[in-house]
Amino acid sequence: MKSVAVYPGQPNSVHLEEIAKPSVDDIPNGRGVLVKVLKVGVDATDREINEALYGNAPPGDKHLVIGHECFGRVEAVGANVRNLAPGDFVTATVRRPGASIYDQIGTYDMTSEETYYERGINLRHGFMTEYFVDDLEYIVKVPTGLQHLHVLMEPMSCAAKAVMQAFEVQRRLRVWRPRVAFVMGAGQIGLLATLILRLRGLEVYTLARRRAPRLPAEIATSYGATYVSTMDKSMHDLAKEVGKPDLIIEATGNSTIAFESMQILGLNGVLVWHSVTGSSKQVEVPADKLNLEFVLGNKLLLGSVNANREHFEVGIRDLALGEAMYPGVTEKILTHRVDGMDNFQEMMRLLVEDNDALKVFVEIAK
Ligand code: BGC
Ligand code: ZN
Repeated sequence: MKSVAVYPGQPNSVHLEEIAKPSVDDIPNGRGVLVKVLKVGVDATDREINEALYGNAPPGDKHLVIGHECFGRVEAVGANVRNLAPGDFVTATVRRPGASIYDQIGTYDMTSEETYYERGINLRHGFMTEYFVDDLEYIVKVPTGLQHLHVLMEPMSCAAKAVMQAFEVQRRLRVWRPRVAFVMGAGQIGLLATLILRLRGLEVYTLARRRAPRLPAEIATSYGATYVSTMDKSMHDLAKEVGKPDLIIEATGNSTIAFESMQILGLNGVLVWHSVTGSSKQVEVPADKLNLEFVLGNKLLLGSVNANREHFEVGIRDLALGEAMYPGVTEKILTHRVDGMDNFQEMMRLLVEDNDALKVFVEIAK
């Protein structure tokens, strides 16, 4: 069967690769779920993998099948699968466990090992193919009523983890009543984080460089957030105007902004860094001032990567609640559809060149 793959380490190697069709019996103990892939989303990680900045092939293979944001339909299940049946819509988590204690209890997103395994990214093949099989542990059901949001389940899981982690660590305060949140970046993660925080009743400011009118501004505004172009108002001026934020989710992909955000965090606040920055930029920071303010203000900086099953489930519930509160808004994130795997070059071109592409996805089957 057909798949889209790269040769990790070799820039611009994206190509079609013929691979064997899997079967439910590839997974032991009757726990296999065979999924027919319908759609796969791509993001900056896929672009960086094709630029050979990131990613590794599974041991023994030269190629890595890409694609980590999948949406599909169950085709067949093993004898011990009870909660899924052929015809169900599903997505799949991305990480696979290593050996640490965190891996063993289903929190592989928190592995304490240097090596991590991610389908479509690192050491495990991805989902941009006709069928894949996996253990039922990693397959998450998508409600029929959310099928129009298909490939957003994985990015939503990452945004859900970022917010959940922030609330989890803030239990250090015994009482935490966050009022103001800044979301840095209005890409897919920034917008989904905006949705989650609005659903929790926060006053949300979504900051991005470019001025409205533009689609991300329209989406953020429809969620009841305030969109701020940093060409008109810096994060510092905004903080002076509305107060320093209790929570910042940084998702710009720009490490300079990640550090700059430290300067405007409120007392007792938490700043979540979520950008995966593959290059090697250096920046100068006001180190004494930041250090002093973090100490005197009991402030917290938190890194958040990937997501486990729980984050997928919470994210899916928030997408459903989002449809009830802001009907028809979230699907606007799904901006660019590519027709079939044969058009993989067009898919990469959109990722590299199109500044208005919020979400590029490949329609693999109907
Ligand atoms: C994926 C995450 C992954 C991260 C780091 C992101 O693009 O969505 O699942 O953990 O890249 O590889
Ligand atoms: Zn991703």
